[in-house]
Amino acid sequence: MTTLITGGAGYIGSITTRAIRASGRAVVVLDTLENGHRKAVGDAPFVQADVADADAVRRTVEEHGVDEVVHFAAYKAVGESMANPGKYFANNVTGSQRLFETLRSCGVDRVVFSSTAAVYGTPARVPVRESDPTDCESVYAETKLMIEKTLGWYARTSTMRSVCLRYFNAAGASDDATLGEDWRFSENLVPHVMKAVLGHSPALKVFGNDYPTPDGTGVRDYIHVEDLASAHIAALDHLASGGASVTCNVGTGQGTSVLEIIAATERISGRKVPHQIVARRAGDVSEVWADSSLVRDLFGWEPRRHLDDIISSAYAWHSGRPGGHRG
Ligand SMILES: NC(=O)c1ccc[n+]([C@@H]2O[C@H](COP(=O)([O-])OP(=O)(O)OC[C@H]3O[C@@H](n4cnc5c(N)ncnc54)[C@H](O)[C@@H]3O)[C@@H](O)[C@H]2O)c1
Repeated sequence: MTTLITGGAGYIGSITTRAIRASGRAVVVLDTLENGHRKAVGDAPFVQADVADADAVRRTVEEHGVDEVVHFAAYKAVGESMANPGKYFANNVTGSQRLFETLRSCGVDRVVFSSTAAVYGTPARVPVRESDPTDCESVYAETKLMIEKTLGWYARTSTMRSVCLRYFNAAGASDDATLGEDWRFSENLVPHVMKAVLGHSPALKVFGNDYPTPDGTGVRDYIHVEDLASAHIAALDHLASGGASVTCNVGTGQGTSVLEIIAATERISGRKVPHQIVARRAGDVSEVWADSSLVRDLFGWEPRRHLDDIISSAYAWHSGRPGGHRG
C-alpha cells in the first residue's frame, strides 16, 4: 500500500508523513516547497511538483504504485485569502479539482482531505457538530468547503470515496521535537506565544479580554499535531476497509483560552510571556470547540495528548531553532 501525501513538506503534512510510514505504509510526498521544507520530508520519497500538474501526479502514481491519498497541499492564511481571493481559489479549489481528476483517471479513489473548523464560521452553539450549519467567514474557509463539496459529488458520481477531516487548532510539534511549525508561515497563536517567550518578537497581542468566556479571552480547541496525524491513519484505514465517505471534526472537545495558553507556557518554560491586551480583532469569535464523538465512534480515534504536551513540544522545537524554523 502506497500513500501519496500532497503538502507533506509542510507542518502537519511532515509529521503525518512520519506517522503514516511508522504505521507500515509506503509513502511518496508531493509538494511545491513554496511553504514547506525539503528537510522535513527526511528520507521519504519526494517529488517537487504542484498538485495541478497532471503529468507529474500521474507519473508519481504510476512509479510508486499509489493506492490512496492524503491531500494537505493548500494555502492557509486567512488574511491573505481576503486580500487575494483569486490566489486561494486557484491553488486550493482548482488545484484540488485537477488533482482529483488525475487521480480518477489513474484509478486512485481513496482521499483523506484537510478541511477546517473555519467552515462553521461563528457557531450558534458549542461544542460544534458536523451537522451544524456551515457559514464561512473567509475565502480560505470557503475554498475548503468547496473542496469538501467537490469530493461529495465525486462520491455520488464515481467510485471515489473520501474522509474530510475538519481540524480545529492544530498545535505543538512532533513528540521528539524534530518536526514542527515554521512561525514565518503561521498565523496561529502557539507559534506567536513561542516567538514572544523566546524574545523574537515584541509583546504578544491578546485580542480582547471582554469576551463572554471565563477569563474574557478567546477560547479554542487546540489539538496536538501528533494526535491529528493519527486521525489521518484511522481515516485511511476506514477507507481501505471499504468505509463510506464521511466528514468529521477532529478536536479534543475541550476549550482553552489565550490566557491559559500563556500561563501554561510560562509554567513550562520558566519564563514570562510578554503580552498586552488590545482591542478585539474583527471577525474573531468568542469560543469554539469540537464535538468529536463522530470520529471517536467511527474510527475509534481518541486524542492522547494534552495542553502541556502541546506547549512543551512547541517550546522544545522552537527553542532549538533560533530562527524559529526548519530551514
Ligand atoms: N495549521 C492548522 O491549524 C490548520 C487547521 C485547519 C486546516 N489546515 C489545513 O491543513 C493543511 C496543512 O496545513 P499546514 O499547517 O501543515 O500548512 P503548511 O503551509 O505548513 O503546509 C502546506 C504544504 O502544501 C504545499 N503546497 C501548497 N500548495 C501546493 C500545491 N498547489 N501543490 C503542491 N504543494 C503545495 C506547501 O508548500 C506546504 O508545504 C492545509 O490544507 C491547511 O489548510 C491547517
